[in-house]
Amino acid sequence: MKPRHFLTLLDLNPSELKQVIERAVELKALRKQDSEDKTLPGKVLGMIFEKSSTRTRVSFEAGMAQMGGSALFLSSNDTQLGRGEPIADSARVLSRMVDIVMIRTFGHDIVETFAQHSTVPVINALTDDYHPCQLLADMQTYWEHRGDIAGKTVSWVGDGNNMCQSYINAARQFDFKLNIACPEGFEPDSELMALNKQRIELFRDPKQAVANSDLVVTDTWASMGQEEEKLAREKAFTGYQVNEELMSLANSDALMMHCLPAYRGLEVSETILDQDDSVVWDEAENRLHAQKALMEFLLAQH
Ligand code: CP
Ligand code: NVA
Repeated sequence: MKPRHFLTLLDLNPSELKQVIERAVELKALRKQDSEDKTLPGKVLGMIFEKSSTRTRVSFEAGMAQMGGSALFLSSNDTQLGRGEPIADSARVLSRMVDIVMIRTFGHDIVETFAQHSTVPVINALTDDYHPCQLLADMQTYWEHRGDIAGKTVSWVGDGNNMCQSYINAARQFDFKLNIACPEGFEPDSELMALNKQRIELFRDPKQAVANSDLVVTDTWASMGQEEEKLAREKAFTGYQVNEELMSLANSDALMMHCLPAYRGLEVSETILDQDDSVVWDEAENRLHAQKALMEFLLAQH
């Protein structure tokens, strides 16, 4: 049987996504009561990292250990991937040895190629185009604080990057409206926007975008791989900071999220992450619970 993969949010249908999030909430509660089961005994997760990570690595590795399995950290610097072994060959070999694989890399085509040649489930742990695991955590966090996100308005303020594009997919799968405020030249993929045009609205003024919003989300202005553009981007994104003033224009019970790492003084003010409307620490914690639920789901299908 062909394995199920999680390369974008579209790989699970809306009811499967809901099921994963409900299970994540349950796993979180079990962990707090100290009564979680080891539901994946002996399973091995291969974790391929071609970019840096704190949350993703720790949440997958700790999650696997908590479920009775184990995880292997595979950096491209120390494997043959870094010396040019083809992705397809690496996928064929690794998937004969481990039960599930997660990959953080640059081009989205790399995870697609890996998945195509893998005999075990593959999870996208961030590419230049998408970061779907983060959206599972974000949707879990919204649910825990405010209930169903269906019919709500979410504002994305900043770069039309991998996180923004994942929010476009989330708008479709979780049925919300998405306002995107970004400077000219930093829009998300035009085809993706066209496909979802009935759900998204593009703004140049963040203040207009956040009006009537239930959730305001931002991310770094310079993603991994764009380090050389950092200064030019800081200039281009002037006026796009999510701060107390901007949050005051959203609905009074609006939440604020950021996938982290955050750069205080740039895309967020020095203090906004510590305000009551910010749920960024829950959002980070939920990576653990949501990915445990995701791995259970994918391995149960396998
Ligand atoms: N949000 C996120 O994916 O964080 P890391 O880069 O630390 O994994
Ligand atoms: N957009 C950011 C997210 C980091 C978790 C990046 O790709 O670097």
